[in-house]
Amino acid sequence: MGVKPIKEGVYSVGCVDKSAEYFHGRSYVTRRGLTYNSYLIKDEKNVLIDLVHADFTKEFIANIKEVIDPSKIDVVIINHIEPDHSGAFPEIVRLMPNAQFYGTEKARSGLLKYYGAEAKSWTSVKLGSSINIGKRTLEFIDEPMIHWPDSMFTYSGFDKILFSNDGFGQHYATDKTFDDEVDFNILMDEAKKYYANILWPFGQILGAKLAALKKMNLQIEMIATSHGLIWRKYIPEILEKYVYWAANSCANKVAVVYETMWNSTEKMAQKIAEGITSEGVEAKLFDVTKNDRPDIAAYMLDAKGFVFGSSTHDGEMLPMLAGYLSFLRGSKAKGRAAFAFGSYGWSGEAADEIEKTVSNIASFAPPLKAVFAPTKEELDKCFTRGREFAKKIKGS
Ligand code: FEO
Repeated sequence: MGVKPIKEGVYSVGCVDKSAEYFHGRSYVTRRGLTYNSYLIKDEKNVLIDLVHADFTKEFIANIKEVIDPSKIDVVIINHIEPDHSGAFPEIVRLMPNAQFYGTEKARSGLLKYYGAEAKSWTSVKLGSSINIGKRTLEFIDEPMIHWPDSMFTYSGFDKILFSNDGFGQHYATDKTFDDEVDFNILMDEAKKYYANILWPFGQILGAKLAALKKMNLQIEMIATSHGLIWRKYIPEILEKYVYWAANSCANKVAVVYETMWNSTEKMAQKIAEGITSEGVEAKLFDVTKNDRPDIAAYMLDAKGFVFGSSTHDGEMLPMLAGYLSFLRGSKAKGRAAFAFGSYGWSGEAADEIEKTVSNIASFAPPLKAVFAPTKEELDKCFTRGREFAKKIKGS
């Protein structure tokens, strides 16, 4: 992104990594790269809001220097300490020894644990507190568990900008700065994928926080997130989507997620999907060995039905499905209908293991199993089960 003025006196000074393939270790595949956004406000006091990944420290400092001598930064605001936003912290502390740092108390102690580094002057902010920096007053909005205990937002009423850190982010690296400069559908797809993979478990807290934010009646002309594009045109659209996702809202559609050894489980998956669509309900097949986990999660976020399949191997489900379900267990999805299926040679535990693993997020109907390769009759049963499941989805 480089340095970009986003409003008079407000600059985007973060870094873009178009070649990034993964986030959170290897668990989040980022086909469109990612960005670490940071913002600098020039006023009577000069303010830096959020930092970047350690690997981008040099580029980040160079960006800051394009706007101001780093030693002239008076205030550093840390909205969140996850290393993608705090990796540059030790160097920032070194370069800005006289700056006053602001963040939650959890942010202060977390930074010390991560880096063994501490700001000389740190103020632990409380819900609703604020600082005056000249023309502007910056308000701190406590947002614990969106998505870490230390998280908060910062709001500038003068600029009508909400600095939302991870909130409303997307892993979408481009040369553009604003939402209306890129393809709307891609932007919303990436925002949904981000929500499903980062924020899904926190829907209940997020819903309450969104309601509280609405009550505050803040004038918001920009949501300056720390990942991806800044929202300015599509603020109502992204807020509406967040309210929808946070409420665990679902559409009449079914994700059929499976892993197969010798294609028998795959044949069952295809017939089940055919049965579902025969009732006019959308069904999407996801082979976990071929589809990206974030894409599957994004589809499941608002799918009313989950169907999971695996061949049985050594008395267990197959490992890539097991890995995916371990992630999904933590999603805290609610009220979904489900069943498991799969082929087996002699014992057939996989479908039962699936149900045990994710019984916390869905109500399971009895499993469907076939020995070795499914016969025509068994495939007909798969079709019928898919059709019956679709009727249940439509009626719920
Ligand atoms: Fe973008 Fe929670 O870090």
